[in-house]
Amino acid sequence: MNNLIKIGNTEVTSKKIGLGTNKVGGHNLFDNLKDEDGYAVVKKAIDSGITTLDTAYMYGLGRSEEIIGDVIQDYDRSKLVIATKAAQDPDNDLKNNNSPKFLKAAVDSALKRLKTDYIDIFYIHFPDETTPKDEAVRALNELKKAGKIRAIGVSNFSLDQIKEANKDGLVDIVEDNYSLVHRNAESELFPYLRANNISFVPYFPLASGLLTGKYSAADHKKFSQYTEAQYTDLLAAVEQVRKIADKYEASVAQVILAWYMKNPDISIVIPGARKPEQVEQNVKALDVELRNSDYHAIDEAFADFA
Ligand SMILES: NC(=O)c1ccc[n+]([C@@H]2O[C@H](COP(=O)([O-])OP(=O)(O)OC[C@H]3O[C@@H](n4cnc5c(N)ncnc54)[C@H](OP(=O)(O)O)[C@@H]3O)[C@@H](O)[C@H]2O)c1
Repeated sequence: MNNLIKIGNTEVTSKKIGLGTNKVGGHNLFDNLKDEDGYAVVKKAIDSGITTLDTAYMYGLGRSEEIIGDVIQDYDRSKLVIATKAAQDPDNDLKNNNSPKFLKAAVDSALKRLKTDYIDIFYIHFPDETTPKDEAVRALNELKKAGKIRAIGVSNFSLDQIKEANKDGLVDIVEDNYSLVHRNAESELFPYLRANNISFVPYFPLASGLLTGKYSAADHKKFSQYTEAQYTDLLAAVEQVRKIADKYEASVAQVILAWYMKNPDISIVIPGARKPEQVEQNVKALDVELRNSDYHAIDEAFADFA
């Protein structure tokens, strides 16, 4: 399953699995993170054959980008796909800002932290309340023409906001919350993206660890967004995946990641990791060739999750 996918109408290509890095330097978002683990996670990912790294200014207010920038100095930059995001304005209490002026400055400062001269995929991380979305995207298109970014992305935009952003057909890729337990993108977003040749990257693909199969009924309090009944159903669905995973001598996480990689509506799956061992395990999802019957069985097991 090592074939490359193309991002939108761009020349950017990626393997179907990348690395999510909100736990690399993301000290403002998670407790008890160590920079040394962040360095080890990124290094392990690249050494294991992962070439796409998904970061953002917001992960450690630049720290994640800095760590990645340090690590990639030892590797061939041309083989890597670096995706980053910005919107939170450090000079205005991190309020979202999509103005052309802000976005241009944000790309320049991300380039410095990443210690590189181009960003493969740049996403507007969140929409702001005032900038017309197509105007923001046209500013990114100028950066694309200048060679500073290679693909234009938006994240956390509603479908209407994506349509406005894509008025001139310039959006290449969308990143949004999607997993087997959060499937509302399937009904309207996926058909729009398919029809417009826009790539899709799901975030929270492992539902923040829940879809690795490592949690039990006793852990419900960690996932208080689910009612007890929902949580019980979710664990039951995970157990069905475990039976399928056993047939492949794979882990639940590997089979779930393989499911996303077999789904044509998904371009790159970017599981996050706190420790290098997790990356090492997750990348092995590339070796799992799910049979169609198992793909459909997993789909069915989670059919009731919206
Ligand atoms: N665009 C956006 O607004 C947005 C929002 C959120 C995330 N993202 C991006 O999407 C990426 C993925 O989302 P996410 O990292 O938040 O969630 P996720 O991929 O659903 O879950 C990742 C977490 O699951 C646990 N895990 C991963 N592999 C494991 C394994 N093999 N065994 C056991 N546990 C494992 C780790 O946490 P523990 O070890 O702590 O359990 C890891 O941090 C992020 O890293 C980030 O790059 C983007």
